[in-house]
Amino acid sequence: MPKLRFFGGIALVAATITGCGTAALSPTMERPLPSEPTMINYVDPAWVHGLDIRNVSRGDSDDRREHVTYPAFDDAPYLTEKLRRTVVGQLDRFTRDASMNSTLRSEFNVDWQLTAASDEVYGVRLRIGESTGSGWSEARTTVWYDRTDRRALDSSALIRDDAALAELAGLVGDKLADRGPQVDPHAVRPDPKLFDSIGFNPHGDLVAEFDDYQVGGGSLGRVAVAVPAFDAEPLLSATGMRARRAAMVRSQTPPMGSDESIQAASRAKPPARSSRAGSVDCARAKCIALTYDDGPGPNTGRLLDVLREKDARATFFCVGSNASVRPDLLRRMRQEGHLVANHTWSHRDLTALPGSRIADQINLGQYAITQAIWQVPTLVRPPYGASNLQVASVARRLGLSVVRWSVDTEDRNDPNPRAIADRAVSQAKPGAIVLLHDINGSTVDATPEILRRLAKKGYTFVTVPELYGPGGMQPGRAYDSAASGASTGESGIVTRALEKQTMP
Ligand code: NI
Repeated sequence: MPKLRFFGGIALVAATITGCGTAALSPTMERPLPSEPTMINYVDPAWVHGLDIRNVSRGDSDDRREHVTYPAFDDAPYLTEKLRRTVVGQLDRFTRDASMNSTLRSEFNVDWQLTAASDEVYGVRLRIGESTGSGWSEARTTVWYDRTDRRALDSSALIRDDAALAELAGLVGDKLADRGPQVDPHAVRPDPKLFDSIGFNPHGDLVAEFDDYQVGGGSLGRVAVAVPAFDAEPLLSATGMRARRAAMVRSQTPPMGSDESIQAASRAKPPARSSRAGSVDCARAKCIALTYDDGPGPNTGRLLDVLREKDARATFFCVGSNASVRPDLLRRMRQEGHLVANHTWSHRDLTALPGSRIADQINLGQYAITQAIWQVPTLVRPPYGASNLQVASVARRLGLSVVRWSVDTEDRNDPNPRAIADRAVSQAKPGAIVLLHDINGSTVDATPEILRRLAKKGYTFVTVPELYGPGGMQPGRAYDSAASGASTGESGIVTRALEKQTMP
């Protein structure tokens, strides 16, 4: 049986950013109330043993931004494979759509939550968001795994049979009829594809949620309906009953949903710094800062072994949703003298978001990391290096310096460790900040050679703040490099050249 802990804090906070529970029709009501019946509570993934993160990457265009993660289960390979097929299928479709609109900047982002984890079932909710230039839209799909017979199933398998699905569609349509003219209850048909994201709230009510535009205008955000347990129970299959039991296992602690409460929880902790900060004077030594983005992931432990062996320190820009799966790896980073920094919650392009969502993305990243290491990050790297005045202003308010890079190893999709090492070494300068990705196995393979060749040239490997010495780094200010003669950006000034080079 997996060891489980329900995690009211981050799970419910995460719900605010995923739009989960926001069945509200008013665009002003963005945050769910704890009593919101369509709220699905999530299971803390850190407490499911044998769970890891997978990434899919195709990024081969400056104007196409992609970030795709999904969970992998040691004991449920069929589930992992079904999740992989689902996200890859969506990514392929998006890539085709985006290439037809090649004049517009497009973005594709998949993140996920565990909706249930018990002896009997796993539930994984994928949130698939995309923009091909004409606004953001999201699809939601929940994949279930019945551990008793090892089957990976669509949500419609939770419903007993076609007649029960027709009855469910009728109940859902009736509920949507009360939601006003923006929602079209007649769009609800007994179609398994329409009912592809079913879950349960802690009371055991069935929650059916729809993709943007499926039953109303996209501006509505998530539209979801809770069907009371009394009506829903007779419609469930055996797997459906198991899924319902799993969702009801424990009631939740009240959410800490506001920016203020996240910040307050963070502020009580000391600022993050390397346990060996100050041991090198970069005004005298030839220092360089290796930075690893987008993890932690399956290769991160191996990277930490390499760094430890060579006694090198690095800075890890962790994605919050990954950090919440593998807090053990963040703790190891801290213990071994590295610096853990913020790469937002789910790797959205912050320049495409309104201010409140920028703050959500950064705050949730802060929270996930602080929960893991009991120190508050002081650095943020915006996904894709994309920053603007608004991002800088939010960063300043949250006490974070904005860090980009001066050496782009273009490693993200490169399977060739030798080529990655060559690019890292040939562009290295004292004071440089080097962009690498620990989610990429070949980057980890390249790291021993990078360390060996740079050490031979006399470099010392330090964390980013150490480059700047006792003068330190200021919140809201952008840093690309501490190399002499290199410019350190004023707050919010976007270095277009850097931004175009890569997709971190
Ligand atoms: Ni990144």
